[in-house]
Amino acid sequence: MIDGNEWKYVKDCLDTSWVSSVGSYVDRFERLVADYVGTRRAVATVNGTAALHVAIKIAGVAPDDEVLVSALTFIAPANAIRYVGAWPVFIDAEPRYWQMDPQKVIDFLEKECVWASGELRNKSSKRRVKAVLPVHILGHPCDMDAIVEVARKFDLIVIEDATESLGAKYHEGMTGHLGDIACFSFNGNKVITTGGGGMIVTDNEEWASRAQYLTTQAKDDPIEYVHGEIGYNYRLTNIQAALGCAQMEQLPGFVERKRSIARAYGAAFESVPGLTPMTEAPWARSIFWMYTVLVDNALYGEDSRELMRRLAAQGIQARPLWQPLQLSPVYAQAQAFGGEVAARLNRLALSLPCSVGITEIELQSVIEAVRSAHG
Ligand SMILES: Cc1ncc(COP(=O)(O)O)c(C=O)c1O
Repeated sequence: MIDGNEWKYVKDCLDTSWVSSVGSYVDRFERLVADYVGTRRAVATVNGTAALHVAIKIAGVAPDDEVLVSALTFIAPANAIRYVGAWPVFIDAEPRYWQMDPQKVIDFLEKECVWASGELRNKSSKRRVKAVLPVHILGHPCDMDAIVEVARKFDLIVIEDATESLGAKYHEGMTGHLGDIACFSFNGNKVITTGGGGMIVTDNEEWASRAQYLTTQAKDDPIEYVHGEIGYNYRLTNIQAALGCAQMEQLPGFVERKRSIARAYGAAFESVPGLTPMTEAPWARSIFWMYTVLVDNALYGEDSRELMRRLAAQGIQARPLWQPLQLSPVYAQAQAFGGEVAARLNRLALSLPCSVGITEIELQSVIEAVRSAHG
């Protein structure tokens, strides 16, 4: 929702002609996000996918390495792993909160990998396993203690894809500050938006400086065009950062609104046979970025896709969850560890309208339409 100082800050960029990638709003936006998440540094990027690409590279993931990543997620983190020439290994979701299953991570590392000459290798592919990339999907955090503990045991880097979870907490820690490096997205559908945009956050000063260097074409000299590495044109513009600063001012209110939408849906659906509302772990504060229900055809009388089509006929846009990535043709050759839970969630899940701008009347009409299958 664009409802704060966006116009004012963008006008300031236009009035002063600071429109491109250098400017005070970029620095300010980075500081605001770093302070909010609690990291020492933040580096703004053109989008979340670019942030992931650079974070994975900075973490030292090399061509032919492997990275354990959530099976149930939007495809961007898997693609970013491939951008550096590494390979994803898809880890199934757990059934309660639908996040990367920590036990599956542990089982894969302990049973399917072998420690040899100071490196962890996947027994079947023989590739080096270098990192774990949990994705906090739908605004809820992964159960990070177990993931971080096993990652430390095997000397793996933890890269959080926190793109869907800005504002979420795991115990008292913010998502984005639970591993070694993390990424956010400010795409149009995210809790705050800059149109398109992303952020890398980390406590590691050296990595942050390297992120800044790689996202600005890896220029070694402030004046002369000397380049020591292949860099990228991945830096966020000042205009977008101006939007981001205004959005950050509103973030606490947005998170509260998301949570109140979730409470309304949860209360309305908990007694409807065949509907399982999205829940929150006792150790979590979810931002309920995308409010999702599971629809059991046998009890509800419609499956998730039938419900989606009925809602569409009433002008209500609902959406399925992602296909587990190992089922995507592009990742048909990739290794998956488990996958039944993600496949089941993909079959049953339906995401309902939940933008912070939704009115009470709109919310009630979605509730009525979903409940009307039961008279
Ligand atoms: C889990 C996840 N990772 C990465 C991205 C990529 O972010 P962007 O669209 O800003 O590139 C998104 C969404 O857009 C996402 O949902």
